[in-house]
Amino acid sequence: PDSMLILGIETSCDETGVALFDTDRGLLAHALFSQIDMHADYGGVVPELASRDHVRKLLPLCDQVIAEAGCTRKDIDGIAYTAGPGLVGALMVGGSVAHALGFALGVPVLGVHHMEGHLLAPMLEDNPPAFPFVALLVSGGHTQLVRVDGIGEYEMLGESVDDAAGEAFDKTAKMLGLDYPGGPRVAALAEKGVPDRYRFPRPMTDRPGLDFSFSGLKTYTLNTVNAAIDAGEFSEQVKADIALAFEAAVVDTLTIKCRRALEQTGCRRLVIAGGVSANKRLRAGLEKMARKLQAHVFYARPEFCTDNGAMIAYAGAQRMLAGQQDGERIVAVPRWPM
Ligand code: KG4
Ligand code: ZN
Repeated sequence: PDSMLILGIETSCDETGVALFDTDRGLLAHALFSQIDMHADYGGVVPELASRDHVRKLLPLCDQVIAEAGCTRKDIDGIAYTAGPGLVGALMVGGSVAHALGFALGVPVLGVHHMEGHLLAPMLEDNPPAFPFVALLVSGGHTQLVRVDGIGEYEMLGESVDDAAGEAFDKTAKMLGLDYPGGPRVAALAEKGVPDRYRFPRPMTDRPGLDFSFSGLKTYTLNTVNAAIDAGEFSEQVKADIALAFEAAVVDTLTIKCRRALEQTGCRRLVIAGGVSANKRLRAGLEKMARKLQAHVFYARPEFCTDNGAMIAYAGAQRMLAGQQDGERIVAVPRWPM
């Protein structure tokens, strides 16, 4: 087909995301319902509550997006949904609605990899990156460096051997008494920190290779917090200083590995994607590094860094244009390497 109108559905975790992407006209409409307030009382996502809320919100959100785009359900040419990785119950809701709608409308349905969605989200912006590029995927569950030669042409260059960068942010937030999700809150607190009050390690940067490890940094943060508490010095200022030292260590570590990946591949384009790519200090650090290599950094607008329906509509549209579609089986894969 020349052009396709694709409905994208994201329900892998705690955000219900829906969008309509037209392969000719671009993104027509998108909407997100965040469950953050619901899970905040528990300090993290409660899977069963997440599934139930996706059930409540998903279809109304689909109809809202269709109306905002000035379309009807009948205009839809295909449906893409997140098939994994993620919470299995939450994934099942998106998959069920996608397949039910697809069956009712007689259009193809395709399960999309959540991280491919993140990876391609910067393509929704003006001046999108051309292939090939190096991508740094930094979310709550993943920290990966990937060489991208085209849609579906991904070569893993390195990844975290333990915690993801976002996970480290979330755990640091907890230690500092901040609410879930911690990333943005640690970043906000770090603004008030005094630089170099603490110096945190840059894990695995003194060794060759492109893998990451963030669990040691987490322990280092915990020890620093405990030492401050024991000394009766766990003030708001000390918390801010720790937040800044932690953030600086993560940013430095990611920047060193990205520079290495650019040098190793000879690529001049770096794409950053996933929730942590919204981090301002990370963006600034990578841009400074890239300038020296005469490379360019690409990222999505903040609302498309974290989970959203637009990235799934986009990734699904690219694959469906190439003729891909699934059978009638609902696919939900909690653990799924890209
Ligand atoms: O991509 P995402 O929305 O969900 C997953 O697929 O995991 O990423 C969520 C992660 C969380 O760990 C959150 O704390 C982190 O991204 N995050 C941030 C920022 N915004 C979100 N981390 C650091 N700085 C931010 N501004
Ligand atoms: Zn995500």
